Amino acid sequence: MILKNFIVLEGLDGSGTTTQLKELAKNLENSYATCEPTDGHIGKLIKRILKKEICVDPLTLAYLFSADRNEHLYSVEGIEERCNNGQLVISDRYLFSSLAYQSLYCDFEDILLLNEKFPLPEIVFFINTDPSLCLRRIQNRSQVNEIFDSLEIQKNVLSNYLKSFDLLKEKGLKILNIDGSLTVEKILEIELSYIKNR
Ligand code: TYD
Repeated sequence: MILKNFIVLEGLDGSGTTTQLKELAKNLENSYATCEPTDGHIGKLIKRILKKEICVDPLTLAYLFSADRNEHLYSVEGIEERCNNGQLVISDRYLFSSLAYQSLYCDFEDILLLNEKFPLPEIVFFINTDPSLCLRRIQNRSQVNEIFDSLEIQKNVLSNYLKSFDLLKEKGLKILNIDGSLTVEKILEIELSYIKNR
């Protein structure tokens, strides 16, 4: 199922999705910017796991991301309710991140199953940035190494993203693959023009 008024930003860590989220929200009336992991109870637990404060089995982490997503979608004032009320909801990351990251350590099919009931967004803006540039950016901004910070991992994440998009395109998913080496302004312009003409 496709959820109308729902837009997702995806990309490697350091690809610039968070900057784009802020810019889009500034430029779009009646929009709501959100992200995954969320700031809810489950999202907070996930963030502690990513910082290596708590250690869990990789499949447990995949369940947690799905649980966080379920709350994100279906809680009061969640994504579904907002979209149905005509608000344009933009999320920095969604189930495509689970397919790209959790399948590094879990069976791809298992992650697909955990996420198969969630609706697809109207469009995914995929900010396609070179993994080595992404890595340089994340190393500059933080001293804390999260669990997915290494070039080898980022390259595998990219190939998992592309594999997931190929698969989901067959289910009607629309993806705008945007060159991540473009300027923030140019990327924003591409996204805004897509939204205006959709
Ligand atoms: P990120 O957007 O990088 O948050 P921040 O800007 O606060 O660091 O997301 C955190 C990490 O979570 C990122 O490395 C990708 C990962 N992630 C998954 O592994 N699976 C998922 O389903 C989601 C939504 C994120």
